Amino acid sequence: MNEFLIPSSQPLGPVKAGHLAWRSPSNIAIVKYWGKFGRQIPANPSLSMTLEDSFTETHLFYKPAGSGEDPIRYFFNNERSPSFEDRVVHFIEGVREYFPFIEKLELEFHSKNSFPHSAGLASSASSMSSIALCLVSLEQDLYKRFSDKQFFLKASFIARMASGSACRSVYPCFAAWGRSDGIPDSTDAYAIACERFDPVFATFHDDIVIVSSDEKAISSSSGHALMNEHPFAESRYAQAKANARELFQVLKNGDLKRFGEIAETEAMTIHALMMSSSPGYTLLLPNTLSILHKVRVFRKETGLPVYFSLDAGPNPHILYPAHIKDSVSAFIRTDIQPLAENGVIIHDHCGMGPVQLQ
Ligand code: DP6
Repeated sequence: MNEFLIPSSQPLGPVKAGHLAWRSPSNIAIVKYWGKFGRQIPANPSLSMTLEDSFTETHLFYKPAGSGEDPIRYFFNNERSPSFEDRVVHFIEGVREYFPFIEKLELEFHSKNSFPHSAGLASSASSMSSIALCLVSLEQDLYKRFSDKQFFLKASFIARMASGSACRSVYPCFAAWGRSDGIPDSTDAYAIACERFDPVFATFHDDIVIVSSDEKAISSSSGHALMNEHPFAESRYAQAKANARELFQVLKNGDLKRFGEIAETEAMTIHALMMSSSPGYTLLLPNTLSILHKVRVFRKETGLPVYFSLDAGPNPHILYPAHIKDSVSAFIRTDIQPLAENGVIIHDHCGMGPVQLQ
C-alpha cells in the first residue's frame, strides 16, 4: 500500500480547536460501477464526469476530546440528523485505522447540499467525498505530509470506503476508478484524474430531469448486492471493462458519437441488470422512457450530439456539448420539461472539482 495512505508515525502534540470546510461535487458515471465485493472493491472499472453546481458543503469543527458530548456529531441543514449521523459514524469508525489522531478529538460536521434534498438526486457522492476531504484536510493540517496529488488520492481512497461513487468526485472533469489495463495507474483502491481529454468534453452540459423526487424503493447497495448472483454478471463486467478502456481513449480523441453510444449503452445496461436480477425490479418510470425516446428521436432528426445517461434512479441526465446549447435548450423546454415532476430540471455541467472553503 502507498505509504501516504497509512497514518504518519510522527508523534502528535496537543491539538487546538479549529475549523475547516470543503465543497465537493456530485458526478455522473458514464461507465458505471455496478457490483462490488470485499471492502468496497468494484467489480469493474468506472469512469465519470464531475459536476459543478450539484455539491455538498461540509464544515468540520474539531476540538480536543473530553466535553462528554458524542465524539462524532453530524448536522444536515443545521439539524442533527440521526440516520445520516449513524452512517457517518459507521464510516469514520471503519477508517479510524487511517486517522488514529481522531481518538484525541471531537468532530462536529455540518453539511448542506446545493440541490434540494427532495430533488431525487443521489447525494452520497458529494456528501461522502466532502466528509473524506475534511478528514484528510485535518490530517494535512496536523502533519503537513501530503503533496497535492497524494492529498487527493488519499481523499479518494477514504471516500471510497463510504460510497464507491464518492471516490471519483475529488477530481475535476473526468475520473476513473477501478483497475483497467487500458488506463495507466488505475486501481481499485482509489480514483485517479483523467487529465488528458479533448476540450469539447470540458464544455459538456448535464441537464438532470427530475421525473420523480421520491426516495428510491431499492438502494444502490441492494442493487450492487444483487450482482453477486446475477446470471449476466461476468459478461457485464467484461463489457464495462471494454467500455472503460475505450472511453478513456474516446476522451482523448474527441469522438462524440462513441462517447454518446457508450453513455447510453451503460445507462440501459445497469437498468437491464436491475430488471433481470433475482428478484427483479425497475426504477424506470413511464416518463423516463418517454424522455429517452425523445432524446433519440431529436438526435436522429437533427444530427446533434445529444445523449442520455441514468443513475440508479428514474431521472435522465441529458448530456451535450456547449456549442449546441441553444438548440438543445429549446428542445428541452418544449419536449422534455413537461415530463418532469413540477417541471424541475437541474442544469449542471462538467465541473472543476472540490474547493476548500475558508
Ligand atoms: C449507478 O456509489 O451509490 O450510480 O458504494 O454502495 O455507496 P455504494 O454505491 P454507490 O453506487 C453508484 C451506482 C451508480 C453508478 C456509478 O456511480 O458508477
